[in-house]
Amino acid sequence: MVKKKKRKLKIRNIIMMFIFLSLIIVGIFYLKEYLNPYKIENFSEMGYQTDEITFILSLSDEEKDIILNQEKIENIIKHYTIENYTEFIQIGYSDSEITQILDLDQTIQEYLLAQPYMKDIFNWLRIDNFIFNNIDRYQAYQEKYPKLLFEEVLEKVNTNRDFPYYSNIQSSDTSLGNLVLVNKYYALSEDYTPSDLISVSPYGSVKMVREAAEAFIELCDHAKEDGYTIKGISGYRSYQTQYNLYNRYLQKDPQSIVDTYSARAGHSEHQTGLAIDVSSNNPDILTFEMSSSFKWMKDHAHLYGFILRFEKGKEDITGYKYEPWHYRYVGKEIATLLYQTGLTFDEYVAINLMN
Ligand code: DAL
Ligand code: ZN
Repeated sequence: MVKKKKRKLKIRNIIMMFIFLSLIIVGIFYLKEYLNPYKIENFSEMGYQTDEITFILSLSDEEKDIILNQEKIENIIKHYTIENYTEFIQIGYSDSEITQILDLDQTIQEYLLAQPYMKDIFNWLRIDNFIFNNIDRYQAYQEKYPKLLFEEVLEKVNTNRDFPYYSNIQSSDTSLGNLVLVNKYYALSEDYTPSDLISVSPYGSVKMVREAAEAFIELCDHAKEDGYTIKGISGYRSYQTQYNLYNRYLQKDPQSIVDTYSARAGHSEHQTGLAIDVSSNNPDILTFEMSSSFKWMKDHAHLYGFILRFEKGKEDITGYKYEPWHYRYVGKEIATLLYQTGLTFDEYVAINLMN
C-alpha cells in the first residue's frame, strides 16, 4: 500500500517536473522573441511589405540595424540589389527613369551619376544622331535657345554651329583619307599638299589626287556616252592659291559676303585634291545649274563617288551658298549614302567619324 503511494508520488513529481521544464522552455522562447530586435512586427510597423521583410531578414544584423534606425526606405529591395539605385534616387530620377538608365551604356550611366538631375536626358538619347561627347554643349545651347526642338539643337551642335564660323578651329584629320573634313571649323595646315596629284585630262587640265581623278575621268566618260559634257575647271588649289583667291575677292566684296562663297586659306576642300568645280561646254559656272549636264551630274555623281558638297537649303550647315558646280570625292559608298539620305558631309563626319 505504502509502496503504491510512493510510486504515485514519483509519477506526479515527474509530470510536474515535465510541465515545469516545458514552461521554462516556452518562457525562454517567448523571452527571446520578446527581446529579438529583428521581429517581423518591428519591420511591418515601419511599413515594409512581407516580401520586403523576408528580404531584410536575409541581410546581416548590421544592415538590419541600419534599416531599423532610419525612416522607411522606399523600394528597399532595389536599393540593395540594383547598382547605384540609391545614388540615382538621390539625384532625383524616378524609378522608371532608373530602369531606363540601367539599359544605357556604362559611360552614360557614369556621366549621369556625376551630374545634377538631367530632365532632358531621354529626349536627347532618343534622337539618332546623338553624340555623347557633345552632351554638355546640347544642354548649353538648349538653355540659350529654349524654343528650338531637340533635333535642331543636335544638328547645330553636331556641326559645331553653336560656335560662330571660323571659331573653335581644329585641324582636319587627314588620316581619314577620302573622308577628310575641311570646312569653317576644320582646317588644313599651310604646308599640307596631297600626294599623288594627277591631271583629269582629257576632261580639263586641273589636278586631283589619283583615286579622285580616275573616278572623275570615268564619270566624264559616262556623261559623254550619254551625250553630256562635263569638264573640270578648278581642282587642287594650294594654300597659297586659295589665299590669293580669297584676298582677290575681298577687293570687290565685303568679307561677310566673300565668306559665303569662298573659303579662307586652309579651309578650302580644294586644298585636299578631292574637290573639283565643273562646267558644261559653257565655261560660266554661274549658268551651270541651268544646263542638262548639271541634271545628269545630279543623278550620276554619286555613282562615281562624288557628292554635291554645298547643297541648296543646307547653306547654314555647310557655311556656303549653293554651289551646283562644286563636287567632292568621298568614294562610292558614302556618296551613295549621302545621296540617299540628304545628309550633308559635315553632318555625316560628325555623327559617324567623330562620335
Ligand atoms: N568655293 C568653295 C567654298 C571654296 O572656296 O573652297
Ligand atoms: Zn569649288
